[in-house]
Formats: sequence, structure tokens, C-alpha cells
Amino acid sequence: MVHCISDMTTENHKLWGGRFEAGLEKWVEEFGASISFDQKMAEFDLKGSIAHVIMLGETGIITKDEANQIKAGLEELLAEYKDGKIEFDVSNEDIHMNMESLLTVKIGPVAGKLHTARSRNDQVATDMHLYLKAKLGEVIAKLANLRKTLVSLADEHVYTIMPGYTHLQHAQPISFGHHLMAYYNMFTRDSERFEFNIKHADISPLGAAALAGTTFPIDREMTAELMGFAKPYSNSLDAVSDRDFILEFLANSSILMMHMSRICEEIISWCSNEFKFVTLSDTFSTGSSIMPQKKNPDMAELIRGKSGRVYGNLFGLLTVMKSLPLAYNKDLQEDKEGYTQAVPCECIKKRHIKEKLERCGLTDSFKKKTFLNFKTDTEHQKQAKLRAMSYCKKFKEEKGSFLLTGKPGTGKTHLGIAMMMQLVNQNVGCRY
Ligand code: ARG
Repeated sequence: MVHCISDMTTENHKLWGGRFEAGLEKWVEEFGASISFDQKMAEFDLKGSIAHVIMLGETGIITKDEANQIKAGLEELLAEYKDGKIEFDVSNEDIHMNMESLLTVKIGPVAGKLHTARSRNDQVATDMHLYLKAKLGEVIAKLANLRKTLVSLADEHVYTIMPGYTHLQHAQPISFGHHLMAYYNMFTRDSERFEFNIKHADISPLGAAALAGTTFPIDREMTAELMGFAKPYSNSLDAVSDRDFILEFLANSSILMMHMSRICEEIISWCSNEFKFVTLSDTFSTGSSIMPQKKNPDMAELIRGKSGRVYGNLFGLLTVMKSLPLAYNKDLQEDKEGYTQAVPCECIKKRHIKEKLERCGLTDSFKKKTFLNFKTDTEHQKQAKLRAMSYCKKFKEEKGSFLLTGKPGTGKTHLGIAMMMQLVNQNVGCRY
């Protein structure tokens, strides 16, 4: 049923409290509340309500005057929220009821009309879509920064030769730039996955009401457009119970964190005494008073470790969703804590990886461990060298420059040992 509330939430009278005589037991109130974590969606709750009330006024479901009063109140709340002036109250259960109660204090009983033709079920789903859309924009922008960093580092290290590994055994010499570009490719795919995620986040559930729509003559296209969504959901049951867009985000974040854990694992190994490839900057390493030889790569370890939590969030929500009957069930309140955690965004902050790589000195042994350890005079390699030389010659004649690493758009992403040696030995100039 869709509510048109005129008497408001008071201490003993909940939004839904119509036929209830007794108040809730304290523990039920506390156990059922989500305000401690869903307050992260406060801004989006207000923006969704503003769109809803504009539509209520435009369609004549409430009067223009009522709509204007409510809208002005919501805008004030938004400004107060941004100034950090709002305090939430657990007795109001969630962000939606808190906002409605705050609005009532501000503008009086007319606030109750905001909930006309709307249920918390479509409201919460709307908030989550808005929240995720903003978050996706943030992750994609941060990934773009990280990818830019990797390209410029790779550019600087075209000639930095390092051992390439298979089975963690020296395999073939590679360019450090080439190694870094492998991560660039991973983060590019991550970014594409998040881009695709936008498609499923960009649909408005508002208007589905509790589960079956409403008899009020609402305009779902209008609210969708006002909130910047591509379109409304085509099925109201799906609108209130779909959490695929969140699962996709958590799955994409898990793959991203897996990539992060791989690059961090390499950084950690490279600063060990066994590898001695890099020395990390003092400013983000920790030490030990009783083992002064130690310089711990804590930040890389922590990012590697945090991937566990992100996988956990994915599995947590998959398990909540499994076998859940249509449409809204309170289980769905468990969908928020995981996806609102800042983990992936925090970890891909430019400075985390960028500074780690830029400010880690490459040690001498990084360079020594390159050709010296490779036998380069086998028949196979002589042949490879000859092939590579003729390739280089031909390529240079045709294109006027060499392409070395996996720079985007260049096509050639792999150079064999011999070609690499050729370039290094002859100190052939190269540019992209
Ligand atoms: N706090 C609730 C949630 O996060 C909002 C929806 C409540 N709806 C209901 N019918 N109890 O899921």
C-alpha cells in the first residue's frame, strides 16, 4: 500500500504505525535500524525526494504551493547536511524516516505529503542507484589517473631491463616499461567493466512504490529525467528487488582488487632482501626497533590484504540475494554496508600506487639481474636475434621509429629477447 501520511512520526508513532498500539521494544528498534550506515546516502535521498515532490506538484497530485514548501524544506536540509549540521536519530530507523522527521520539524505536517505515491521500497532502491552512479564516476576517474601514471612510468622505463619470470624463475629479459603496461591493460579492463556497470545503475526505480506501482497519476519519466537517469524500470517488482547493479559493482571491485593485490605483491617481493630490486621511500614504510635492518612495505601489504574484505562483500551480498523471493524483504537492508565501503576507491588513490612506484629507487641489482643472468648464445637465440634485427630494420624504414612496449594503440606489444638486446646494445633511439 502506498502511504499518504498526514500525521507524522513522533516518539511513539512511526511512519508505518497506523494500526499499532504498542511501541517497539528498544532492542527491535536498534536491531532493525540502518541509519548508522545508510546515512551515507543522505544527499541522494534528498535529491530523490526533490525530484519526487516536483513531479507531485507538476502532476497536480499535491498542490503547487505544498510542493514548493516541501521542496524548499528539502533544499534547506540538503544545505544543512552539506554543512555537517544534521544529526540522525536511531529511533527513526533509516535515512528515509530520519529525513522525513527532520522535514516535519522544519515545515510542519505538510511534510507528510512528500511520501504520497511512494514507498520506502522504491525510495531506498532509488537512493542506491544514485549513490552507485556517483561512486562509479569516482572509481573510473581514479582508475584513469592510475592508468596515466602507469603509462608515464612505462615511458620512462622503456630501457630499464629486468628479468621476466615464469614459474618465478628467470625466463627472458623484458623492459620494466613492458611489465608496467601489463598492469595498465588490467586496469583498463577494470575501467571498462565499471563503465558497463553504469548501464545497470542508470535506471530509476522510483514509481514502483512498495511493489506494484501506485494508482496516483505519477510521471515516472519525469522523475527519472529530473534525477538524471536514462529511463525508469519497466517492471515494478524488479525495480524494488533488483540488486544486480550492486553485485556487478562488487564483482568488478573484486577483480580490481585482485589486480591491485598482484602489483602490491610484486612491490613487496621486490623490496625483499632476496630480490633487492627496489627500495621504498621512508615516508611510507615502517621499521622495527629491535630489527633495525627492516623496512616494511606495509601499505602494499594492506592493499593486498584489503582485497579479502572486498571479495567478502561480494559473497555476502550474493548470499543475501540467493533464493530471496520477490519483491522487497528486509534482508535487503543488508545490501548497503559492503558497497558503501570505500575500499576500492581508497586503494586506487593515485598516490598509493603512483608514489610507491615513482619514489622507489631501482637498485643496481635490478639492472645487474638482467642480461648477465641470461645465456644469449644459443642457436635459437642467434636466430631470434637475426629475425629481430631484420624486423627492426624493416620497421624503422616503414614507420621511422620503434615501438617498444605495450603503449595503447600501438599494436605491437611484445618484443623478443633479441630485439630488446639489439635495441639496448646499439642504443637505438626510440620514440612513440
Ligand atoms: N531501511 C530499509 C532498507 O534499507 C528501507 C526499506 C524499508 N522498507 C520496508 N518495507 N520495511 O532496506
